[in-house]
Amino acid sequence: MATSTPTPPTPTVDLSVDLAGLRLAGPMMTASGTCGYAWEYGDFVDLTKLGAFVTKSITLHPRKGNEAYRIVETRGGMLNAIGLANVGLEVFLKEKLPQLADMRSKGPRIIVNVAGHSVEDYVVTTQRIADEKAIDAIELNVSCPNVKDGLTFGTDPLLLRQLIKEVRASMRRDCKLIVKLSPNVGDITLTARAAVEGGADVLSMINTYTAMAIDIHKRKPRLANTTGGLSGPAVRPLAVYLVNRVYRAVARDANVPIIGMGGIQTWQDAAEFLLAGASALAVGTALFVDPATPIKIMDGLSSYLAQQKCASLREIVGTLKIDP
Ligand SMILES: Cc1cc2nc3c(=O)[nH]c(=O)nc-3n(C[C@H](O)[C@H](O)[C@H](O)COP(=O)(O)O)c2cc1C
Repeated sequence: MATSTPTPPTPTVDLSVDLAGLRLAGPMMTASGTCGYAWEYGDFVDLTKLGAFVTKSITLHPRKGNEAYRIVETRGGMLNAIGLANVGLEVFLKEKLPQLADMRSKGPRIIVNVAGHSVEDYVVTTQRIADEKAIDAIELNVSCPNVKDGLTFGTDPLLLRQLIKEVRASMRRDCKLIVKLSPNVGDITLTARAAVEGGADVLSMINTYTAMAIDIHKRKPRLANTTGGLSGPAVRPLAVYLVNRVYRAVARDANVPIIGMGGIQTWQDAAEFLLAGASALAVGTALFVDPATPIKIMDGLSSYLAQQKCASLREIVGTLKIDP
C-alpha cells in the first residue's frame, strides 16, 4: 500500500528588526506625511500589524501649509508641496498622541517625524516629544531651509552635523534619533557621514526629489508652490542606488541601520532595498493606491526569505553581490 509523505511545514521566518537597539516585530512602516496621525487610516487597514508607525512632520507651531494644488500625479509618481501642514507641537501632544499610545500598546513602535526652520525649533520640539514615554524614536526631516541663511539643513554637511549634535544632546537617551536624508545633494555620503558623526542612531532615506510639472495649456506650474517633491515608483531605482551607496560607504562600518523608502509598492521592491542595505522599509505613495500595501508586502517577503533559505530577515540585509 502506498504511503503518502507528509508535506514539510513552511519554515517560519523571523521578520523582526533591530534598529540600534529598538526592536520592531516586523520591517514595515508608514512613510512620514502619507498616513496622517494614524486614525485617518484606521478604517482601511489594521495598522497594528506594522513594525512602526511614522507620523507626518510636526513643527513647533501649527502650519496651514501651501495653497492648492499641493499634490499632482505624474507618470509613475506623485509631486507634492504640502508645506508641512500640521497641528503643531502642543495640539499633537494633547490630541494626537493618546491615539498613538493606544496603538503602541497593540504592537507597533511609534516614530514622530519632526521638522523645523532653525536649530532652536528642532531642539525645543524634539526635546518635548522625546520626553513622552510612548514615543520610541524621532525622525528628523532635515529637508527644510534654515530661516537664518536659507540653507537646507539636509544638504549642508556642516550645518547638518551641528543640528544633529544639538538635537541628540537634548533628547532622552533611550529615544532613538533617526535622520532622514535628502536625495537633493551632489554626494549623499557626505551628509550621511555628517549625520552619523552628529549622533544619528539610524538613517532613513530617501525624502522626495525636488521636481516640477507644467500645465502646458496655461503655461504655468501645476503646483501652486511651483516646485514639489517627487515620490513613488518613478524614484525607486534612484532610491535603491542611494541606499546601497550609503550602506557601503558609511552605514555598514558605522553599524548604523538604514530605513529604506522611495517607490516601494511590492514585496519585490522591498527585497531590492533589503539587498541594497536597508534593515527596515517604509511605504508612502503606494498607500494612496492601497493602504494595505505594507501588510501585503510582509507576506511576500516571508515566502521570498524562506525560498532564499534565510531563517531571518537580518540575514539578507546588504547581501547584494557586486562583482569587483
Ligand atoms: C503627500 C506626501 C507628504 C509627505 N510629507 C512628508 C513629511 O511631512 N515629512 C517627511 O519627512 N516626508 C514627507 N514625505 C516624504 C515621504 O515620507 C517619503 O520619504 C517619500 O515620499 C518617498 O517614499 P514613497 O515613494 O514611498 O512615497 C511626504 C510624501 C508625500 C507623497
